[in-house]
This record gives sequence, C-alpha cells and structure tokens, in this order.
Amino acid sequence: MTTTTLTTRLNNVARLNLIDAPTPLQRLPRLSEHVGRDIYVKRDDFTSLAMGGNKLRKLEYLGAHAIRKNADVLVTAGALQSNHVRQTAALAAQLGLGCVALLENPIGTTRDDYLRNANRLLLDLFRVRVHEVANLDDADRQLETVAQQLRNEGRRPYVIPVGGSNALGALGYVRAGLELDQQIRGAGLEFSAVVLASGSAGTHAGLALAFAHEMPSTPVIGVTVSRTSAAQRPKVQSLVDQTSELLELEPDPAMRVDLWDAYFAPRYGEPNTAGLDAIRLLARTEGLLLDPVYTGKAMAGLLDGIACGRFDGKGPVLFVHTGGVPALFAYREAFHSD
Ligand SMILES: Cc1ncc(COP(=O)(O)O)c(C=O)c1O
Repeated sequence: MTTTTLTTRLNNVARLNLIDAPTPLQRLPRLSEHVGRDIYVKRDDFTSLAMGGNKLRKLEYLGAHAIRKNADVLVTAGALQSNHVRQTAALAAQLGLGCVALLENPIGTTRDDYLRNANRLLLDLFRVRVHEVANLDDADRQLETVAQQLRNEGRRPYVIPVGGSNALGALGYVRAGLELDQQIRGAGLEFSAVVLASGSAGTHAGLALAFAHEMPSTPVIGVTVSRTSAAQRPKVQSLVDQTSELLELEPDPAMRVDLWDAYFAPRYGEPNTAGLDAIRLLARTEGLLLDPVYTGKAMAGLLDGIACGRFDGKGPVLFVHTGGVPALFAYREAFHSD
C-alpha cells in the first residue's frame, strides 16, 4: 500500500483538529557531543493543549468519536499524576463536556506534592469529578461501572480507556508516524532507531505500525515504564493488530515489536537513579525537561543503549518526547533525596 492510500484511510476516520502543525524535530547538539552520537528529539511535549503531551494525538480521534456519539461526559482512569487524565480533562473542558476520572495511587505515597500538586492540581482546575480507587487492576470493568452509574443519572458517558490506548486512539500515532516520516525525509536524515516510552502501548503501537509501513529498516524501540518485555509485547502486538484491522491493512509478518525493559525498576511511577540522572543531564546540556515516570526512564534507556553499543550502525538516534513534564512538580523529593 502506498503512503497516499494509508493517509487517505486515516483521513477517512473522523478527527478533531487539535494539532494543526507538525511538532518540531530538533537536533540536540550539546547532548550529542556529550555522548558522541547524534541525538534528535520529536517534540510531542509541544502539543497545544494544557501543557502538551502524546495523549492529544489519541484524543483527536477519541474526542471526535465521543462527539459523534453525542456524549456529554468523558470518563477515564489513571494514576493520580496521570498525564493522560490531565489532557483528557482539558479536552473535556474545551469541548464543554463533563469529565469523570478514576484515580489510583500506584506507589502508595502520602507525599503532599504527589497527592495534590502538578497534574492532580490541574484536574481540579478542569473541574473533574474524581473517584479515588484502591487500584485499577480491572480498569475496563471499573470504567464501565462508572459509565453505567452515569447513564442511570441520565448522562451520556463516553469511556476512554487507560492511556487512550485502543485502536482508535493509536491512529493518532500512525498519523504522527507519517508526519515524522515526512520530516525525516525532508531533512535527509536516516535514523538508526527511534526510542520512546512504552506504557499503555498506543503510542508505541501506532508509531511502530507507521514505521513498518514507511521506514521498515528503522526499529521503533519501546522502553517499558511499567512491565517486563514479556508482559508488554502482547499489549503492543494486540494494538498493532487491532489498529491494522481498523485501517484495513494486511497483517505484516515481518513487523517486529522492539522492547527494552531494563529501565523501569523498581516499578511504574517510582523514579530511579538512571532516570533522574537523565533528567538532570538533559536539563543541564540542552535546557530540555523530561519527567521521572516516562521520558526520564526512556531517555535513560537511550543513553545506556548508546553507551553499550545496542543501536545498529552509526546513524543518529531519535527520541520521541511524549510529554509528562508537569509531573516533575509531584516528585520534588526525588531530586532532593540524594
Ligand atoms: C509522558 C508520557 N509518555 C509516554 C506515555 C506512554 O504512552 P502510552 O501509554 O501510549 O504507551 C505516557 C502515557 O501516559 C505519558 O504520559
């Protein structure tokens, strides 16, 4: 299938126009010099709603579907410091919809910054109705229970899964992959690899699908932020399959799901030394901010990958900055404890 056909199929799916220009692709000269290899960054932390981030790309599709379904309230779930919930809540406010969020405390902390500041503070500004839950171990069912309660109250809920990661949401990153392909070709670059954080997996799945189609020799490496590769692989693969089906693409047997899982310990939402060091290094060398839950750990993977010679060839490496910086302010102690 040609790029034009894939673009046409994507364009046939209704989408809100929330991102009206490509996010920048930038070289990081001082970091590149520091590590001895060219590093570029795709600035998806720059998307244009409520401090940015990757979720807006998924919400372009999910929000359009919610409107088509005549929803009056968006229902979603995540951690107390979820960037996904923050962006969903901002979109609900922008569209004049209500927003209900199920929130868990995945690290069991009692620190005030985590419980009240940063992303959690913003949810109050967006007038989110928050239900704190002990865990989100069965999130889809928990979301459906809340949706049913809302229906009983006469509301019209639209459920967005954790991280916005279903096939419709992943289309946002198929589109981002095509955007990136144009930028890469336009700049005459050839990357050894693309590196990003892989969590609920929609970002990774969408981008991997687009690259398998447009630039099959460039691996899209997901640095896991919450689970081992063995546990993450079926999540990414299943989303790739469902998204391919939605776009009526033939399954591509040659497509690989690349995962690195050595950087998320001790667990999701808990900072580690390598991630904090990566945040400090990027701040110091480039004035670029990362976060302790996703992009700091993913960048730690990229830097270690360079140090250990894990990337093929000698070409530049591309980091996808998926946002999350507001969460820095929930983790003040992590930067002062050492
Ligand atoms: C800043 C940031 N980066 C990366 C991710 C991971 O994206 P995905 O959940 O699509 O794997 C998230 C998800 O919440 C995020 O907030």
